[in-house]
Amino acid sequence: MALLEQHRMLVSWLRRYVDGFRKDRRLPPMMQSKWEHSARVARLCRDIARELDWAEEDSSLAEAAGWVHDVGRFSQWAEYGTMTDALSIDHAQRGHDVLVAQSPLKDHHGRGSEALLDAVRCHNMLELPVELAQGSRELSWLVRDADKLDIFEVVQDYLQQGRLGELLPRLEAEGPPSPPLVEEITRRRRGSYSNAKTIADFLLIMMSWVYDLNYAPALRRVRERDVLGRLRAYLPRDGGAASLLAGAESHVAGA
Ligand SMILES: [Fe+2]
Repeated sequence: MALLEQHRMLVSWLRRYVDGFRKDRRLPPMMQSKWEHSARVARLCRDIARELDWAEEDSSLAEAAGWVHDVGRFSQWAEYGTMTDALSIDHAQRGHDVLVAQSPLKDHHGRGSEALLDAVRCHNMLELPVELAQGSRELSWLVRDADKLDIFEVVQDYLQQGRLGELLPRLEAEGPPSPPLVEEITRRRRGSYSNAKTIADFLLIMMSWVYDLNYAPALRRVRERDVLGRLRAYLPRDGGAASLLAGAESHVAGA
C-alpha cells in the first residue's frame, strides 16, 4: 500500500478510536481539548516539514505522527481521571502501546512505522534516548517542536482566562519560583517537573522549552508569535525568573 494511503488509514483509525470515548456524541472536555490539540499539532508538523523541504511522504508521515502523538491521553483519562502522568501512567508509552495493539500500524512494518512509534513514545521525554535511529530522531524532533508550539498557545489561553490552576491542580497557585528549579534551568537550560511546586515553576519550565526547539521554523514561530513577551506578564519578577526570561529571550532572538 502506498505510504500516503497508510497515513490516511491511520488518521481514520484514530477518529474511530477517539469516537469510542464519546458519550451522547460528546467527548469529556479534557479529551475534546486533546483532540483539538492533536489536530493543531498535526497541521504544525505538516507545515514545518514542508518548510524544511521534506519529501511529500515524510511530510505526510509527520502529519500522521502529530495526529496520533497524544493517543495515549484518551485511555489515560478514561481509566485514571487525570492527565498528570506522575499520578497515573506515562501517556506517551501508553500511546505507543495502543498503536501497536490496535491501530493499522500493527500490520505495517513499512518505512516510517518505526519512526512514528518512536516519535509517539518519546514525545514527552526530557531528552531523546541516545540509541534512537536517525529517522526516528528527526521525526521525534519535529513532533516535540510542534507539540511545544501548541502548548505555548494552550497555556496562554488558560492564563488569559485565569484558569491555569485547573490544568495543574498539584501546583500551588501563588508563590515564587522554587530555588532548585531556578538552579536547574540556569545550569542545564531545562527543568524537571519533579522540581516544580508552584505555577511559576511550571511557567519557567515551559519557558525553558525554547532551548529545546530543534528546527528553525519552530523558533521562528516563537519569535513571530511573541511567545515569551506574552508570557512575561504572568511570570514573577523575583526569585531569578527575570534573568531566566532574559536568557531565553536572547536565545530566541539570536537563533
Ligand atoms: Fe503528549
